[in-house]
Amino acid sequence: MKATAIAHPNIALVKYWGKADVDTNLPAVGSISITLDSLTTTTRVDFDSGHDRDELILDGAPASEQRAKRVRFCLDLFRRLRPDLPPAVVESENSFPTAAGLASSASGFAALVTAVNAVLDEPLEVNELVEISRRCSGSSPRSLFGGFVELALDGDSTAVRPILNRRDWPLDVVIAVTSKTAKKVGSTDGMELTRRTSPFYESWVEKSSYDLALARGAIASRDFEALAVVSEASCLAMHAVAMAARPGLMYWNGTTVECLHRVRALREEGEPVFFTIDAGPQLKAICQPGASDRVASALAEVPGVIEIVRCGLGDGARVVEG
Ligand code: PMV
Repeated sequence: MKATAIAHPNIALVKYWGKADVDTNLPAVGSISITLDSLTTTTRVDFDSGHDRDELILDGAPASEQRAKRVRFCLDLFRRLRPDLPPAVVESENSFPTAAGLASSASGFAALVTAVNAVLDEPLEVNELVEISRRCSGSSPRSLFGGFVELALDGDSTAVRPILNRRDWPLDVVIAVTSKTAKKVGSTDGMELTRRTSPFYESWVEKSSYDLALARGAIASRDFEALAVVSEASCLAMHAVAMAARPGLMYWNGTTVECLHRVRALREEGEPVFFTIDAGPQLKAICQPGASDRVASALAEVPGVIEIVRCGLGDGARVVEG
């Protein structure tokens, strides 16, 4: 009972921010993302280890208790459906820094549920994997699929569907890493603070279905300019609603803001590029492939940028070895 799976992080263009139910980690809004290619989480599960509890080895060393607990929670969700699953040793490696705000929890849980499913005599259905991974990290079910992916609300559960293959619109992503310090307020706490205290929270939730519709249309017609407008709007609205919480959440640093202005200036000069920023200080520039060299050099020159990471669009989570 051993399997290995890989998965890649995804970046939301229409953002998820806010939970309808904290206990079941149900998002308050749907979201649309792109799955990346070159950043990879590789996760191996071994249910034959003979250990008496689940163990997590992360990047070659025993993981913190907090991380191990999240993995045990995930395995226990499988055990509700497959009670005979013995304790596992889970070994997970990221080809990128875990705490650098590059969505390692999304690729981590997508790889984990895919690997666990591969050892089951009766594998779970995709929608069951979506629900399990979503309970562990709201953005992770999107990494089960490649290309452009929508996570839609469906009553008190969620459904995830690929909306466009990566080969049908091969965009590039240039990530400007501006800090490697772990963020002070994680996404769950940030979302809850925003829901409880931000005066703009209800309008954020209401406006989200409009942005989802615009993004779906832009992706269906491969309209880069329309996707740029809705993605930047969704990102800025997410940060605005979070900044208006009490105390206000500020995930950006000065370099993030400089990068944002640089991307806007490039677009005004005619480069097909737009930005998005998650709950951290890294700026992600999405561009048409012909523009990515110029975008990467321009962002590398912004004072304070420590590293440039470049990706294309990638495939969903998959088993790589039995
Ligand atoms: O999956 P979580 O709980 O880490 O939340 C992700 C939240 C954002 O990255 C800020 C937005 C998104 O939709 O990915």
